[in-house]
Parts: sequence; structure tokens; C-alpha cells
Amino acid sequence: MLNNQNYVQLSLELHLFFARIMKEHSFFLEAGFQGKDQNYKDIAHDFQMNFAGLLNQVTDLSNRNVSKSALDSQEFITNQTLAAEKKTSELSGIPIDQNLTRKEMNLTSGVTQPSEQLINQVRNINRRALPLIENLITFKNEVLNQVLTCRMYTTNYPLLINHIIQEAKMYYDLLSKIERREILSLQEFYEQELFWNNIMMEHAEFIRGLLDPSEKKLILTADQFAMEYEKMLQTFRNRPLDLKQASIQETMKFQQFNLAGITGILDCKIRSIILPLLADHVLREANHFIRILNQYRSY
Ligand SMILES: [Fe+2]
Repeated sequence: MLNNQNYVQLSLELHLFFARIMKEHSFFLEAGFQGKDQNYKDIAHDFQMNFAGLLNQVTDLSNRNVSKSALDSQEFITNQTLAAEKKTSELSGIPIDQNLTRKEMNLTSGVTQPSEQLINQVRNINRRALPLIENLITFKNEVLNQVLTCRMYTTNYPLLINHIIQEAKMYYDLLSKIERREILSLQEFYEQELFWNNIMMEHAEFIRGLLDPSEKKLILTADQFAMEYEKMLQTFRNRPLDLKQASIQETMKFQQFNLAGITGILDCKIRSIILPLLADHVLREANHFIRILNQYRSY
């Protein structure tokens, strides 16, 4: 059973990572719809605002209530997030609240014994977040269905829409477990490891497909990452300890590739149809994966 302190800390850390991810998924959906699907754009925008509101509340409660390792991992925001948001907002014409990011930049770590009031506030946030995530999953499923039946054109790949559905489900499952005060079992951790390796593989595939055809070297590198992740998942499917070592090594390399990606895109040195915020988003997910791998290093 999770004690009060872990309950508060794990809830806040989960939201700081995933509520932003959901907010950005909603943004990517909004930006990808065509003009004729304005109603879809509006719904996606509402989700973006709702998750921004959630993230804002969570940030207010997080000062000195989250761990140093989580804060330092740059999974909540990176050094490039603010610049990526500014540029993406300019390019798309869709507003992004950068004050929220500035507020997150000022967070301080520390874990203290939570007050009754804080526990209640966190419980309220968790119970509000669950139906919101569920609604977003329903919406993403509807979009995927429209695309797969050729009733909608969007600039987001079908695999990307499916990918963001899987991430929302992971958020929902982890939050439900925290809300029931369950501690993750080793088996569950191992499943998470498989999940994130698969996510990393798909990121490599998305990057490969969104680069300009003239970026031959980068396309080749992205393709190599995709193949390496695929091979790793096959080789170590039933060997958790070996998978963990391989995951850390591979993802630290991939993290550097992602970092070079966001830097090159912000500097206008890479030709692609990748929005800067998407490049920053995948880097944060790699940072998150490395942090949880290190956290479970002991077993
Ligand atoms: Fe992702």
C-alpha cells in the first residue's frame, strides 16, 4: 500500500509528466485537422485547455512535493520546451500558454509529510483527471476510426493516433493504481518497460517518416533506431533483466538523437514537417523512460 507521502508525490509526478503529454496530444490533433473539420479542432482545443487547467493546478501543489530525480530528469519540461512552444505557436497560429511552462521552470523539489488538506486536494485532482483522460481516449478513438474508414484526412499518421491512445491508456491505468494506493509489482514494471520500448521504436518510425526525403543520413539513423528497438523487443521479450540493461543503453543513445533533433529543428538546420513541440515532446518521453529505468535499477 502507498503511504500518504508516496500517494501525493507519485500522483503529482504522474500528472506533471502525463497531463502535459495529453495537452500536447490535443494540440497535435488540433493542428493536424483540416479546415473542414473545425468541430474536431474545437474539441481538441477544449481538451488542450482542460489539461492545461489540470497541469496548472498540479503545478501549484507540486512545489517541494516532488522528487529531485523527477524534476532533474527533464521529463516535465526540457531546456528547450519554452522555445519549442513559442515557435510552434507562431508556426501554427494556435495559442499555447507559455506562462504555465515558466511556472514549471520555477518548481523546487523536496518531499515532506503531506497535510490532510494536500491529500484531499490531490485526491480531488485524481478523481477529476480520470474521466477527463477517459473522454480523451474516446475522442482519439473516434478520430482514428474516421481516418481508418477514409472519412477524414489529417496530417497525423494513423499509427501516431493509435500511439497517443496507448499513452493515454497508460496514464489512466497508472493513475487508477495510484488512486487505489497500489504499489507497482515487478511484473507491472516490466510491462511498462516493454511499453516504453515500443513507444521509442514508434518515435523513431515517426521521425523517419516526417523528415524531408533529402535528409538521407538522419532518415537512416532514425531507421536504425527503429530496427534496434524492434530487435531488442524480440530478443529480450522474456528476459526482463537483460531487457533493462539494453533499454538503458539504447535509450540513452536515442535521447541524444532526440536532443540533436529538437536543437536542429529550433535552429532551422533540419528539413522536415516535424513541429518543434513534437520534437521536444518525444525527448521528454525518452527522459521519462530513462528516469524510471534508473529508479528500478536495484532489482
Ligand atoms: Fe509518444
